[in-house]
Amino acid sequence: MMTLHGRRVLVTGGAGFVGAALVKRLMREGAHVTVLDDLFTGRRKNLPATGLEFIEGSVCDAPLVERVVPEHEVILHAAARNIVVSTRNPREDFQTNIGGTLNLLLAARGSNVRRIVYTSSASVYGNPRTLPLNEDDPLSLLTPYAVSKLAGEHYCMAFYESYGLPVAAVRYSNIYGPGQDPANPYCGVVAKFVEALFAGRPPVIHGDGSQTRDFTYIDDAVEATLLAASAERALGEVFNVGTGVETSVNQLAALLVRTTGVPIEPAHTDRRDVDNIRRRVVNIEKTRRALRWVPEVTLEEGLRRTVEWQRSEARSASTAQTA
Ligand SMILES: NC(=O)c1ccc[n+]([C@@H]2O[C@H](COP(=O)([O-])OP(=O)(O)OC[C@H]3O[C@@H](n4cnc5c(N)ncnc54)[C@H](O)[C@@H]3O)[C@@H](O)[C@H]2O)c1
Repeated sequence: MMTLHGRRVLVTGGAGFVGAALVKRLMREGAHVTVLDDLFTGRRKNLPATGLEFIEGSVCDAPLVERVVPEHEVILHAAARNIVVSTRNPREDFQTNIGGTLNLLLAARGSNVRRIVYTSSASVYGNPRTLPLNEDDPLSLLTPYAVSKLAGEHYCMAFYESYGLPVAAVRYSNIYGPGQDPANPYCGVVAKFVEALFAGRPPVIHGDGSQTRDFTYIDDAVEATLLAASAERALGEVFNVGTGVETSVNQLAALLVRTTGVPIEPAHTDRRDVDNIRRRVVNIEKTRRALRWVPEVTLEEGLRRTVEWQRSEARSASTAQTA
């Protein structure tokens, strides 16, 4: 097990939701952190003001990536165009999610990089025939985003096999929690529902709400990612990061009505193009065994912490307005 204390760690997409949580945790572990982010959806304010190096730039900028990557021992690659952007503009998605990943791998090849962790997505499973989803189940790619995330994953594994590059990949399933900015139009369903309820509006469910997801609390996802960055057994492997619990969007909305204490019935609207997955829940057995990781935060507890955080953010915003 490699310790991250004192290591030089590059977090791409480090100003985003997951990236910023990784950065804060790494800083607590005593790592020397650099963030490379083009601030497409990320914000500088998501990160501590001092104690890290921030480079505003794109993973698509090959000369920049070639200069920055070899100065680091560990790369956590969380920069990506998200599913909504990707569906609207597959070329932009292709350039960042595939081209940017290839730039990183090429820059790391032949350098002293000791580990790269690629943040993939459970989107690669598409509409499965059986549940829960295992890492080696057949994949079905229903969106350009799923294609690009899987291509990035395959490039990582090809660089592991062909050049011995020390990579691991995590497939995240619907991460939520404090730090997920509801003002970001592409953010997840939890933050959007809480924001609506606080504003006295109904949470808007796309479709009939019977679609299910495996909602993963941010701290659990961070822990799994850092284990993938340090465990010997993670090399060349892909790991599901979820909870193994299947929750429908209707159940989620009901839980949030209860947690916020705002008694507003959800509203329903048309299904979006990006919502073409009916059911999803991942099997976390391999991750549990190989990384000795288990998710610790239940959905009820995670939602409680998220609602608290969004409440305090809303309070500080309104205090700032009246000051
Ligand atoms: N949040 C989830 O539920 C979830 C689920 C599955 C996979 N993922 C993956 O996790 C990673 C982080 O996602 P997130 O939820 O934090 O999203 P996010 O949009 O908050 O973060 C992505 C970050 O990448 C940055 N970025 C985008 N394009 C870039 C580029 N060309 N160069 C440099 N930086 C760039 C953005 O500015 C942002 O800070 C992504 O790889 C995503 O595919 C997330």
